[in-house]
Amino acid sequence: MKDIFDKCNLGNLNLNSRIIRTGTWETENEDGGFLKNSVYDKYEAIAGSGVGAIVSEIFALDHKDRFYPYSTNQNYKGFIKEYKMITDIAHKYDVPILGQLAFFYYDDGENQKVEANDISIKGIRKLQAEVFMAAKKFAYAGFDGIQINMGNNFYLARFMNPYFNQRTDQYGGNTENRVRISAEIIKLIKKTMNLHVSCRINPLDVRKDGIDYEESKKIAKELEKAGADSIQLTARTISYLYDGREKNPFLVYVDELIDELDIPVILGGSLRDMDTINEVLNNTQVEFVSMSKPFVAQADFLKEWKENGEGKTICQSCNNCYSKKTSTCFKY
Ligand SMILES: Cc1cc2nc3c(=O)[nH]c(=O)nc-3n(C[C@H](O)[C@H](O)[C@H](O)COP(=O)(O)O)c2cc1C
Repeated sequence: MKDIFDKCNLGNLNLNSRIIRTGTWETENEDGGFLKNSVYDKYEAIAGSGVGAIVSEIFALDHKDRFYPYSTNQNYKGFIKEYKMITDIAHKYDVPILGQLAFFYYDDGENQKVEANDISIKGIRKLQAEVFMAAKKFAYAGFDGIQINMGNNFYLARFMNPYFNQRTDQYGGNTENRVRISAEIIKLIKKTMNLHVSCRINPLDVRKDGIDYEESKKIAKELEKAGADSIQLTARTISYLYDGREKNPFLVYVDELIDELDIPVILGGSLRDMDTINEVLNNTQVEFVSMSKPFVAQADFLKEWKENGEGKTICQSCNNCYSKKTSTCFKY
């Protein structure tokens, strides 16, 4: 029998439970990017609650990026110092923490919003170098790894999606080619840094000719081949698949995906109570689950779940925290 509070390993990382607090933007920065005290308090509450691992909020590459105003970045003066304090907080509780990198647009120096079909090889090298440097900065700040968001509708997700990528060179065409830009980054990070590399990917894309379950499995396989240490699922269509009304829609797909991979897979979205999570853990091959909004509603809720041996989040999945682009709960 698996239980959410089992001690376990996510690749090379030792976890105190099977729960991952997944990427959740903070928007709690002062002018100049410095973190408000509430961010430290939140990390302290999450790390001390019995969580297995934490994925930071989104870090964007560029100040022109779509999610830049809602999140933090590596370009402000205090980044290394302040995030070393955040990673120290996580490590005080033996909780591994990954820095999440996600960018929606890419500026190759000639075009501020260059898309997959138009970026030159020089532009691809610039992008890869910038992601590599972001990983280095995460390492300096004490993160145990990097999570690159290649899901939702982020740049690298679009790049690997045949709906957007019609390149005819080695970065377009079959799955291996469309994933190559990301695979090369992973290989370089793994070769030069002692970081866990996690990739957040889409199980499917509802657009016609977009990614389907079979293509998504092939993508995950390519990422594993490149050296990725874990895969975390997301979906582009958060609003209609992850709205809290539907039970997790990816259970069949995730079991098939786990069959095909040797690296761990993290399943998430709409998980709200301990019984359901333990049911998922024991009726599928899933070993790790992620949650976001429950931590927004109450940062330390896992403490009560652990003490009581049962529990249900107070989060009502109203999604206001998401739509209003803050990470504060409007109900509690
Ligand atoms: C306020 C808020 C901020 C989020 N920020 C991020 C983020 O920075 N990076 C990311 O990959 N996903 C982000 N997400 C999506 C969550 O990681 C997660 O996939 C989604 O909320 C579904 O999980 P849940 O039902 O447990 O909340 C965010 C979600 C919310 C509600």
